Amino acid sequence: MREITVAMTDTFISKPYTNFPENGSISAQAPSNIALVKYWGKYGEQLPQNASVSFTLSQCRTETTLHFEKSTPNGNFNFEVFLDGQREKSFEPKIAQFFERIRRYVPFLTEYNFKIETKNTFPHSSGIASSASGMAALAVCLVSLENALLGGDLSTAYKETQENQLRKASFLARLGSGSASRSIEGPLVVWGQHPEIEGSSNLLGVKYPFKVHENFSNYQDTILLVDKGEKQVSSTVGHNLMHNNPYAEARFKEANTNLTKLKTIFEDGNISAFIEIVESEALQLHAMMMASKPYFILMKPNTLEIINRIWKFRKETGSQVCFTLDAGANVHVLYPFSEKDRTQNFITKELAAFCKNGAYIHDACGLGASIVNS
Ligand code: PMV
Repeated sequence: MREITVAMTDTFISKPYTNFPENGSISAQAPSNIALVKYWGKYGEQLPQNASVSFTLSQCRTETTLHFEKSTPNGNFNFEVFLDGQREKSFEPKIAQFFERIRRYVPFLTEYNFKIETKNTFPHSSGIASSASGMAALAVCLVSLENALLGGDLSTAYKETQENQLRKASFLARLGSGSASRSIEGPLVVWGQHPEIEGSSNLLGVKYPFKVHENFSNYQDTILLVDKGEKQVSSTVGHNLMHNNPYAEARFKEANTNLTKLKTIFEDGNISAFIEIVESEALQLHAMMMASKPYFILMKPNTLEIINRIWKFRKETGSQVCFTLDAGANVHVLYPFSEKDRTQNFITKELAAFCKNGAYIHDACGLGASIVNS
């Protein structure tokens, strides 16, 4: 089902606002996420060509405070963005584009002046994309403010337990950055309509609805920072190149098949089968980049060195460690909680040498975005 009807998106248009607070602020945090089945290729307005599933992380987060002040509406957006206390004008075009896409669903955007203060728990230059966590945190702030406009109390307006708020936050976040739709909840989130996953949708991320074996609870992810530089090819450009990629249709089909296979794997707790899917997904993502026209490579020599070391370690020790990749050179090392000490030891002793300045971040699955009370 690829068609998205106006009626489907209309459910995210809010009721008339009854309350316009003069000013105030609201803070939210949202984590990053790491896809197990990758989203690479989109159509229409930020709609995925295939379903994806990810682990929501917990340590790598964005914290955003949205300050708002009632203005005289003139149809324009009035906002400034600050990163770590400094005005960050380079972020503003992306936020303006986000606001343009969502104005139909949150029409109060032109009624206020906003100051958006944001900070990441991971270094800005780490090569970890902050768009997923950043857009998700901002979306939660906006949903929260909207609830106050509908008559709720600002400090208690956003309830992580309220289905319609979670859905709207994910719907909005997707329009900022596709993968951000998977950062609202956790620990496992599906985005993209899939025939075997009830409730899945191209419009928003939903919590994985089926049984997950305890082997996958508290799964660990250590992010090895191989290259901290700016990406040579943005994910927007990468997604677009899928339109002319000769392998695109086969790739979209394969992703959906892999998600079907993961369903049984999650239920049975079969980590070996999980590894086969996850590593293949990572390499297919990068294979798509290499098969694009123009072609490009985001992996670095140390990315491959790390992958080979992981394979060798697994073969020699019987460990269940594996890797996945994002759209960059960094390596996400995934391992079950039961192997935490041994794997972290391996990372420190052997893999850290291939990271820029020996840097890595230990993370693990988490529960998603929330309001931060000051
Ligand atoms: O959300 P975007 O447009 O930055 O795309 C992210 C795509 C990948 O991170 C490479 C894969 C994914 O599913 O997160």
